[in-house]
Amino acid sequence: MFPATIPLLPVLFVTLALPITVLFLKRKHHDRSLPPGPPAFPVFGNLPMLLGKFPHRTLQAMAQKYGPIMSLRLGQIPALIVSNSEAAEMFLKTHDASFASRRKTQASEYVSYGSKGLLFSEYGTYWRNMKRLCTSQLLSASKVSSFAGVREREVEATVKSIKRAAARGEAVNITEAVNHLVEDTTDNEVDLTALVHDAISVSGAFNIADYVPWLGSFDLLLGSTRRLKKIAKAVDQVLEKIIEEHHTRGSGSGACHASRDHRDFIDILLSLMNQPVDPRDEQSQVMDRTNVKAILLDTIAGSFETSATVIVWVLSELLKHPRVMRNLQDELANLVGLNKFVQETHLANLSYLDIVIKETLRLHPAGAFFPRETIKDTMVNGYHIREKTIIIINLWALGRDPKAWSNNANEFYPERFLTKNFDYRGYSFQFIPFGSGSRGCPGIHLGLTMVKLIVAQLVHCFTWELPSNMTPDELDMNEKFALTLTKAKNLHAVPTYRLLCEV
Ligand code: HEM
Ligand SMILES: *[C@@H]1O[C@H](CO)[C@@H](O)[C@H](O)[C@H]1NC(C)=O
Ligand SMILES: *[C@@H]1O[C@H](CO)[C@@H](O)[C@H](O)[C@H]1NC(C)=O
Repeated sequence: MFPATIPLLPVLFVTLALPITVLFLKRKHHDRSLPPGPPAFPVFGNLPMLLGKFPHRTLQAMAQKYGPIMSLRLGQIPALIVSNSEAAEMFLKTHDASFASRRKTQASEYVSYGSKGLLFSEYGTYWRNMKRLCTSQLLSASKVSSFAGVREREVEATVKSIKRAAARGEAVNITEAVNHLVEDTTDNEVDLTALVHDAISVSGAFNIADYVPWLGSFDLLLGSTRRLKKIAKAVDQVLEKIIEEHHTRGSGSGACHASRDHRDFIDILLSLMNQPVDPRDEQSQVMDRTNVKAILLDTIAGSFETSATVIVWVLSELLKHPRVMRNLQDELANLVGLNKFVQETHLANLSYLDIVIKETLRLHPAGAFFPRETIKDTMVNGYHIREKTIIIINLWALGRDPKAWSNNANEFYPERFLTKNFDYRGYSFQFIPFGSGSRGCPGIHLGLTMVKLIVAQLVHCFTWELPSNMTPDELDMNEKFALTLTKAKNLHAVPTYRLLCEV
């Protein structure tokens, strides 16, 4: 994750960090307007503390010592880590407008067309118009449900291939199957996913060059800028190919697409090309090809990675908790019936499925680290927070706060949601897996629909068992910290077909 920094650090610590730290500690003591935080090293600040495998856990533990609003320095950049719901509400609701930007990173600059998409773009008119456009034209509940048929067919095709593995008694690589399925349902291209993964692993979640700018010039040392430029070029080629394919498909009368009765996500996005970015203002900037590619990339990257991650976590928790799995399968048998596939119209009625997904998102917040950036100096809780401070809401810590979730906070117990009337976004700041406020996730309908449909179908059609006599206790639930918090080990399980009807 921090490839080039590791050999460098020990040397730096010994030679210059320790003596200067003493000086630094003295100075910091007097800066009373900053929230409390651990002492920082020169140059790298607190980044060295986040080098471990589980920075989200390190940050959670540090917050227990320093408090729910904690100061850090990431290289040269001041940062705040927010670790409980009261504090999250202050940043995402009370002062939302002050914290609604994102920091430009190398990855977003090179790969995402100078941050022209949504995910990484700075707060401003461009971002606001793009967000409105995506929310209303692309990702609204009605647009999302208009593609239900495509998703249902893709999921059924996967069921068919898993059924063949079931007949042979083979274990299925669930991580792989889910990744492929989500790619197919989001009209993704395999190579694009691989490239986005490359970009993430080159830059890491905390790319040193983003936080210690003068280090960015040591390209030899890091090599990441050069690699990012290369990836950016490859990403552009794939996006061009996707756009070309959709153009030819749209204009030609290709017989094999005669039965295409739907316009997909990309078709809608392409239809916006050359339209004003702000539909209410004819004079506003028009969407050009670069804008379309940037949005396309962000929505594919945003949807693929998070949704696939969440699905794997849900299935892992179900395999780890056979009681919950049985309850869910009973609900599916009762409401859908063993002679039918799940359809998206069923999803609203599957209330146990809903709390299973919620409980999974509480413990495994896939989108835990999309940092905000402060737009202007703001007072929060008596602290003076400066412009350009990074704000990280640690959703991992929020989900495990014993004050909010009682002392069994670490247990997987979906029924806890029966007595809490939480929706997925901002009803209560204890539970905000899609973020909240102006920078909240615009893909919430699509994300939840994909997660629910795929989990429901796989659990409805098959009984699953862990391979080679592994017991549920032995299932490794460690996470891997990247752009999303994914499950570190791939999930494998042996399916048995459960329905009375044939595919
Ligand atoms: C279960 C799946 C998903 C989860 C858990 C998730 C979670 C999140 C979170 C936590 C944020 C940051 C919010 C904030 O800063 O307050 C976010 C932002 C975003 N998500 Fe999602 N997301 C999911 C699915 C999707 C899908 C399907 C799409 C698109 C098709 C999408 C597109 C985006 C975009 C574009 C942003 C940036 C919004 C902005 O900066 O204004 N996400 N998501
Ligand atoms: C399972 O799938 C993942 C993701 O595609 C892949 O990286 C891994 O090598 C696969 N594992 C096996 C044993 O095939
Ligand atoms: C959902 O539940 C309602 C009320 O029980 C029922 O009328 C409706 O048919 C159900 N929908 C589906 C698709 O099963």
